Amino acid sequence: MKLNANFQNLQQSYLFVTIAKKVAAYLEANPGADLIKMGIGDVTLPLSPAVIEAMHKASDEMGKKETFRGYSPDSNGYPFLRKAIAGYYHSFGVKADPSEVFVGDGAKSDVGNIVDLFDRENTVLIPDPVYPVYVDTNVMSGRKLLYLDAKEENGFLPLPDPGVSADIIYLCSPNNPTGAVYNREQLKVWVDYARKNGAVLLFDAAYESFVTEKELPRSIFEIEGARECAIEFCSLSKTAGFTGMRCGYTVIPKELQFGGVSVAALWERRQGCKFNGVSYITQRAAEAVFTPEGLAEVKKTLSYYQENARVMAEALKEMGIWFTGGVNSPYLWMRCPGHLGSWEFFDRLLGEAQVVGTPGEGFGKNGEGYFRLTAFGDQEKTKEAMERMKRMLK
Ligand code: MLT
Repeated sequence: MKLNANFQNLQQSYLFVTIAKKVAAYLEANPGADLIKMGIGDVTLPLSPAVIEAMHKASDEMGKKETFRGYSPDSNGYPFLRKAIAGYYHSFGVKADPSEVFVGDGAKSDVGNIVDLFDRENTVLIPDPVYPVYVDTNVMSGRKLLYLDAKEENGFLPLPDPGVSADIIYLCSPNNPTGAVYNREQLKVWVDYARKNGAVLLFDAAYESFVTEKELPRSIFEIEGARECAIEFCSLSKTAGFTGMRCGYTVIPKELQFGGVSVAALWERRQGCKFNGVSYITQRAAEAVFTPEGLAEVKKTLSYYQENARVMAEALKEMGIWFTGGVNSPYLWMRCPGHLGSWEFFDRLLGEAQVVGTPGEGFGKNGEGYFRLTAFGDQEKTKEAMERMKRMLK
């Protein structure tokens, strides 16, 4: 028996696991330290009342013989939720049929699992810096990776090099980790490139609900031609505080076919074999997010985080630190002060200010010298963290 040797090519541990271990070691050495966590993008506000009510109702149903549900008849989601999500897309002018919406337990799993559908010989194009899941899952399956530089010079929004051909392309907008957002013209360039190369565009829209500027796209399917080349991944984690609930969705249009084979049909086949669906209670909770009350409540929660981002941006400006993001995005991507390396800054911020962030280098080589902060924290703690940073850098 041989183990998958590709695992030897991975970083020793997943970025957020490495950070959690460092934080645990710090707390062991400094028991009772008043840490403020702005590292992993985990939400802090509770689920909204509409969601809680739907969960209570669904739990009651599960407690009665007549309304109890066992295995879901379709691991891709109950029709009520697929329809609600398709309706959400329609609300901002994007065509999506419920049958093209696949409910899953979060964008991370779907983004990671989608690679099962693709040949190992395919070349993968990944921006750097990037959400580590795109890299790790392809390394695990032994695919060749090409990196695309995202830098200050291109606003961390790289465009394709026509001289480079790729089969699988990852994009994330609003971007994790940099907070940068592609406009329609830029996404059109990507869609045209993918179609010309016969490539698939894997579009991570997990942060779409943070887009406030109307002219910026929230979905790749707002771009003409995307239905022929793209898959979109989205999540309720950041939109509706579902990080602990686990629910997301993947949209695969009918038009997406390679060699006459429907990608949606392959995904359905994969999920049918390896996935038993998201729990009924969670799906009812997710459905409630898309009701008028749910959407209004979610908007309130989002504005709380947006206010955090504003406070953080102001503080960085006051400190004279260059950054991007924080508008249309819950992430702020700052240059490390004093030319520190990103892990050096991580250690200093943890040791001297008891604030945890994410070193840019963890997202790729172009992240070296940068640092990511999230706006998902408690408002008072966020303000306190920025004050601590100011004191530390004075
Ligand atoms: C992040 O901090 O990058 C995200 O929260 C991680 C994730 O969504 O898996």
